Amino acid sequence: MYSLIQKLATTHSLMVDEYEFLVANRNDDSAKLLRNYAVKVRREIYGQDVFVRGLIEISSFCRNDCLYCGLRRSNSHCERYRLTPDEIIACSDEGYELGFRTFVLQGGEDSYFTDDVLGGIVRAIKARHSDCAVTLSMGERSRESYEFLRVCGADRYLLRHETASPEHYAKLHPPEMSYDNRMKCLHELRELGYAVGCGFMVGSPYQTVKDIARDLKFIEEFRPEMCGIGPFIPHKDTPFHDYPSGTLELTCYLLSVIRLIYPPVLLPATTALGTINPVGREMGIMSGANVVMPNLSPVGVRKKYALYDNKICTGEESAQCRECLNNRMRKIGYEIVTSRGDMKRAV
Ligand code: 5AD
Ligand code: FES
Repeated sequence: MYSLIQKLATTHSLMVDEYEFLVANRNDDSAKLLRNYAVKVRREIYGQDVFVRGLIEISSFCRNDCLYCGLRRSNSHCERYRLTPDEIIACSDEGYELGFRTFVLQGGEDSYFTDDVLGGIVRAIKARHSDCAVTLSMGERSRESYEFLRVCGADRYLLRHETASPEHYAKLHPPEMSYDNRMKCLHELRELGYAVGCGFMVGSPYQTVKDIARDLKFIEEFRPEMCGIGPFIPHKDTPFHDYPSGTLELTCYLLSVIRLIYPPVLLPATTALGTINPVGREMGIMSGANVVMPNLSPVGVRKKYALYDNKICTGEESAQCRECLNNRMRKIGYEIVTSRGDMKRAV
């Protein structure tokens, strides 16, 4: 174990079997060692800085039916909403005043957001705030669509790969969705010049240690600029309502491993991590994460964007959320910085 961790910290690469061993045989000592290395390499690149992204949840309509997600089309209990372009632009204006320089527009796969509509919103935000980065997290679209949105000014795209095992992918998704198309989208986004984010849920139903090892190998090979990982949390109106949540312990362990696989990667301490534990995001940062994503959505819609049960930050105003995270980060010796927070390449 000790030599594997040394190897990872120096070469940033392990074989799939070795990743599997690292996860299957983890203990307090290996966690501590990985965490220490992870925090050290992150400090060398980013100091004590934590980047913020303002998350705007633009639509809870979704044409997909992922088995884990509360927004799945089969969930008739989900309250559907979509923000108007003006409301989205107003959120970005408010966020700008609060010091955000990156906006993440996230939503279900909602056919209202055609290229023209979404592209117009991206253009408007970039025109008003030319020093800001716009990140899209709007699911699978065509290459032409990704290309058009890029031309409109979108800088980054988040599309979690969800799992790097095709068999596992099939257990989490309806038959009409495919692992191959997911991967195709990720590669197209990369080719089009986006900074790309992949990621997966920790402890999703049917996930094995082997699956996690494949996720880690995929991250090593793909070298995403961003990587979103957070615990799976059941949603009461989905087929997975009875499955247990992923754990804080394993999520933090994997954050440390991913930091070592690709030292400059932008790694969020996710809302899901803050949901399973009151200090989950702080633990995530202390394990190697360097991004937080407070909610900028209008308070009136926040509860409706329910990917999973008991989501945090659904009652707070944007300014409160931002302030809360400032305090949380300061308390553990980190500082939220106002900048676009691009990935630093030269290491
Ligand atoms: N628990 C945790 N994360 C979830 N996501 C969707 N549903 C859940 C859930 N029940 C994640 C998926 C998706 C991202 C937007 O949210 O990984 O890519
Ligand atoms: Fe949203 Fe604390 S981060 S309320």
